[in-house]
Amino acid sequence: MISAEHDRALLEALRWQIEAGADEAIGAQPLDRTAAPPAAAPRAAGGLAEAPARAPSAAPAPDKPAPEQVAQPRPPASLASASETQASAQRLAAGATSIEEIRQALEAFEGCPLKATATQLCLFDGNPQAPIMIIGEAPGAQEDRQGKPFVGPAGQLLDRMLAAIGLDRSAVYITNLLYWRPPGNRNPTPGEIASCLPFLERQIEILQPQLLLLVGGMSAKTLLNRSEGILKLRGRWADYHHPRLPHPIPALPTLHPAYLLRQPAQKREAWRDLLSFAEAMEREGIGRAATKPAG
Ligand code: URA
Repeated sequence: MISAEHDRALLEALRWQIEAGADEAIGAQPLDRTAAPPAAAPRAAGGLAEAPARAPSAAPAPDKPAPEQVAQPRPPASLASASETQASAQRLAAGATSIEEIRQALEAFEGCPLKATATQLCLFDGNPQAPIMIIGEAPGAQEDRQGKPFVGPAGQLLDRMLAAIGLDRSAVYITNLLYWRPPGNRNPTPGEIASCLPFLERQIEILQPQLLLLVGGMSAKTLLNRSEGILKLRGRWADYHHPRLPHPIPALPTLHPAYLLRQPAQKREAWRDLLSFAEAMEREGIGRAATKPAG
């Protein structure tokens, strides 16, 4: 029988973990890391009829949970090939003619395994009529809970960055490369990015923003087809070429606010980028108003 004192101790342990930042589950099963490792299976006599259960080098390291207990990138349930997944994403995205239909297409799409581990779809925030599109990487824990990009601590810093050049969420459209949260905020795999890209391209095609702000290395490298890191790319305007739009869209890579929270000294560089972005807005005739200029 569990005593009240035992309950209190468990709650204390939980509170301690939350304060230390361990505030979410990344495995489907709880794992007792303090338990002794299971005893090795007895060897079959003679050893010739049975292959070893696992090569010694494949045994889990003592400080790591067994692989099946960690949320790993998983193939889609259907085991569709990458090209089938791509074709399905392209087909669903192409059939959408509005952001609402993009949402429905993503709800129907089964090609991105992140959907299975995320709480919900996280598509966009802000104003679809806005001439500025901001593209981040992937939802984090709070975005996953609320279903909107950039609502956690990085999002709050992004809001302050936008406010510094007179923008708020009514004047921008905010989305991500990925629409479901990678478990434990791990980096997305190239396959996950590729499976979601047609939906981003379709949003750009439908909304036709005048300027893009590419937040973080993943977004900049993917959209600009570059391999350099964000510290090289940031602050340099580049043309984003959409496969079906006649004109390129000017795009500015900048530092991710989550990075700036860890490296506040880099805010100076981000500020330079923002000033450059504000100048481009001026050139494009983009005021602080929420909608695109007529015509
Ligand atoms: N980081 C991102 O890139 N996007 C979000 O929506 C939140 C954090």
